[in-house]
Amino acid sequence: MSTIYVTRAIPDEGLRLLRARRHEVIVNPEQRGITKDELIAALREHQPEALLCLLTDAIDSAVLAAGAPHLKIVANYAVGHDNIDLAAAKEHGIAVTNTPDVLTDAVAEHAVALMFALMRRVCEADRYAKAGRYKGWDPFLFLGPQIKGKTLGIVGLGSIGAAVAQRCVQGMGMRVIYNDPKTDAAFEHEHHAEFRALDDLLREADVVSIHVPLLPATHHLINEERIARMKPTAYLINTSRGPVVDEEALIDALAMKQLAGAALDVFECEPSIACLPEDHLKLKAMPNVILTPHIASATIEARQAMSRIAAENILAVLAGKEPQNRVM
Ligand code: DGY
Repeated sequence: MSTIYVTRAIPDEGLRLLRARRHEVIVNPEQRGITKDELIAALREHQPEALLCLLTDAIDSAVLAAGAPHLKIVANYAVGHDNIDLAAAKEHGIAVTNTPDVLTDAVAEHAVALMFALMRRVCEADRYAKAGRYKGWDPFLFLGPQIKGKTLGIVGLGSIGAAVAQRCVQGMGMRVIYNDPKTDAAFEHEHHAEFRALDDLLREADVVSIHVPLLPATHHLINEERIARMKPTAYLINTSRGPVVDEEALIDALAMKQLAGAALDVFECEPSIACLPEDHLKLKAMPNVILTPHIASATIEARQAMSRIAAENILAVLAGKEPQNRVM
């Protein structure tokens, strides 16, 4: 029997799997993110062989050192793993895994939902109707652009970017251009998609949807200069990681009407919606901005599957086997 420490309650499929194999599963009872000090204390107290953590837990060298030498695996309950110091994990011989693929559809659906809501002004119209302001049909009320026929620019053609493109081409009659370190001939053929250099994509797209991981090379990938290349009628959607977009530059561009609108599911200084208090106020006042609280993967199916995959990775490592989703 091994001990597995879980930093916060998650959907139970994986936890049941771990318990069925007679492992001791200790779930932090707090209904909030664990602090670094609490996590270090828990690792010292329980000496778990496995840590199941969330994308909001910073698993840095101090945390990993507190887990060593018992800790064999850090199983991140997310596909992104920018919250984990991989080099430090390697130093301590601790495996790191993530939960790819099972949340692809959920995130793609949310990106498309944001696109519809933003371009067809669903949230603005909802607030207007609920405020009792609808006094009669009006030919000019909440006009927005038609989505069919517009050009979608996908930045990052991983499985999520490709799933967004597929929905937009087949379901909505959009045209797709994409940017990625690698071109993908099969994808281009299947979706009549075309590769573009990033600056060209930004110039041409009516909607830009970001799907890159957060790495040193993608930090502020969408910066002031790049936002300035976008059309004033274009929309930006970010369901990847907040720091991929220079938020201050984005807010300035929106304020100066250099862009038509933006939908953000992720933020640079999460859980705050902006790093600066004045930007916080500006964002809240912008009707052409939609904000959701990092819920792109929040379907019941995806969150249960993430729980199962994290548990399967833990079981593999505890059994001395190679985990399916090792990132390090
Ligand atoms: C992930 O898994 O990285 C997503 O951001 C979770 O929503």
